Amino acid sequence: MTALLESPTARVKWLAAPSSAAWLEAANARPDLLLIDHAHCERKAAGVALQLMFRYPSDRALAEALSPLAREELEHFELVLQVLERRGIALRPLPAPAYGAALAAAVRRQEPQRQLDALLVAGLIEARSHERMALLAAHGADAELRQLYGALLASEARHFGLYWVLAEERHGREATVERLQQLAQLECEALSGILADPHGLRVHSVGVRGGAGPAAAQSDGPGPSPSG
Ligand SMILES: [Fe+2]
Ligand SMILES: [Fe+2]
Repeated sequence: MTALLESPTARVKWLAAPSSAAWLEAANARPDLLLIDHAHCERKAAGVALQLMFRYPSDRALAEALSPLAREELEHFELVLQVLERRGIALRPLPAPAYGAALAAAVRRQEPQRQLDALLVAGLIEARSHERMALLAAHGADAELRQLYGALLASEARHFGLYWVLAEERHGREATVERLQQLAQLECEALSGILADPHGLRVHSVGVRGGAGPAAAQSDGPGPSPSG
């Protein structure tokens, strides 16, 4: 399994460490649980984009980028809902993993740092989603799920490139790269550890390889390109 995880589609520059084989195995063991959480993730991703539009209402370029992104996330949400429906799986609420809260806590309170952090955190979540969807597209539990995740890959890749561009345009390359490296380490730490309860499996539950080494994050910034 480890050799399979070396697939280039699973490598994403933003991330300080790739996901582990253990996460993929847990995901493949509970595809229904993953699908429910995936639906919630798509809806949350739309919410994050809308929140940013409301927080910075006079930033027209931000709105022009994030409005279509929010729409696209809702289309993904609807797509996953259809799969749930076909499989007779109810969209039940799930306790969120610690991941989102850990990243939200890292967002600084004062502007302009708050905006930079919020854009980079949103981008990191997109990047991790993209990376894990690429794993599922290649090694998913069944053909329908491989196809579903494969169909979502391109737009998720665009999304994290877009957050990077929004951050760099507003805060400059140097500040963006420096903060991204810090947040990428934190993102990786938030995913460190072993999943104790299989019911805790989520799109963003623990499972990364090698932890967050200091040299793991890319120093040249990710640019708009999704993969390293
Ligand atoms: Fe999405
Ligand atoms: Fe996305």
